Amino acid sequence: MTSFADLLQKDRAGVDTLIARLPKAELHLHIEGSLEPEMMFAKAKKHGITLPYADVEALRAAYNFGNLQEFLDLYYAGADVLRDQDDFYDLTWAYLQRAKADGVVHTEIFFDPQTHTARGIDPEVFVEGIVQALHDGEAELGITWRLIPNFLRHLTEQDAIDTLAELEPYMDNFHGFGLDSSEVGHPPSKFARVFAEIRSRGLPVVAHAGEEGPPEYIVEALDILHVARIDHGIRSINDPALVSRLARAQMPLTVCPLSNVKLCAVSSMQAHPIKKLMDAGVLVTINSDDPAYFGGYVGENYRATAKALDLTAEDLKKLAANSIRASWLHEVQKARHLAVIDGL
Ligand code: ADE
Ligand code: ZN
Repeated sequence: MTSFADLLQKDRAGVDTLIARLPKAELHLHIEGSLEPEMMFAKAKKHGITLPYADVEALRAAYNFGNLQEFLDLYYAGADVLRDQDDFYDLTWAYLQRAKADGVVHTEIFFDPQTHTARGIDPEVFVEGIVQALHDGEAELGITWRLIPNFLRHLTEQDAIDTLAELEPYMDNFHGFGLDSSEVGHPPSKFARVFAEIRSRGLPVVAHAGEEGPPEYIVEALDILHVARIDHGIRSINDPALVSRLARAQMPLTVCPLSNVKLCAVSSMQAHPIKKLMDAGVLVTINSDDPAYFGGYVGENYRATAKALDLTAEDLKKLAANSIRASWLHEVQKARHLAVIDGL
């Protein structure tokens, strides 16, 4: 019998339908990066904050980044409109609705506690706001979730240690920890002690590595932080031995194609290494990173990648299956989603 996927091999227009129908896990999403300009203005108004942009269009027009740091400067400034529990709830709920529309069945969300504690916001405010929305999303939208605080690597390891202490009362809500922010000059090894402490409590860790930084940072994340996944990891393409290692270990990479183009980590979508990595046997996944800033949520990341790299239906099924396999879902839930993907 000809499968739906076989038919789509010959029908590029049908690829978008397949993408929409595939059950997907999103494994690399900064919740602060889902703050759409409209919500930023609404929250600014609510709190009496004046943004340095005339309107939503002027703000969107500023989303032209030459590198990661140019984006981060705007992203941290934007997060300042998030002040109370409702703000964090609304932010997370808006993301979940977009994820649902894209066929996301499971999401593992990052947030940056230090961005908020540094502004004097109590962890209870952002943890409770985010978690309440995640619970509601699971009940009303059927999206399962995990929550992963990330440490800001441009700050000191001591700051991360102090933040971990501040988060202590909320640890039951967290499923692992991560490392993000300005990569070059802040190698994973800088956070060896705090990540060892987290792992000693039985929690998995992940780290951004090889987004702008060299392949050596990916090796450090593996050998020193003992990560369960690498966030981005695209610079591994410059080190064939590392690509072989990642493939052998079936180490997941949470790749974010639109982000990589928007931050000039790759020159164009056509030049993106994700297909080469997949063909080399690496367990790559597609994610949105900071969708409000980079021009698309996870569905748009799949569509843009499929179009630019001429991905087949089998490639797309593999990417969705990889996202489920690389997630921290229980095996029974993974098997259920994988069976649906198999049947498409
Ligand atoms: N924080 C939010 N988005 C990020 C990215 N793409 N890289 C590093 N840190 C981030
Ligand atoms: Zn990221």
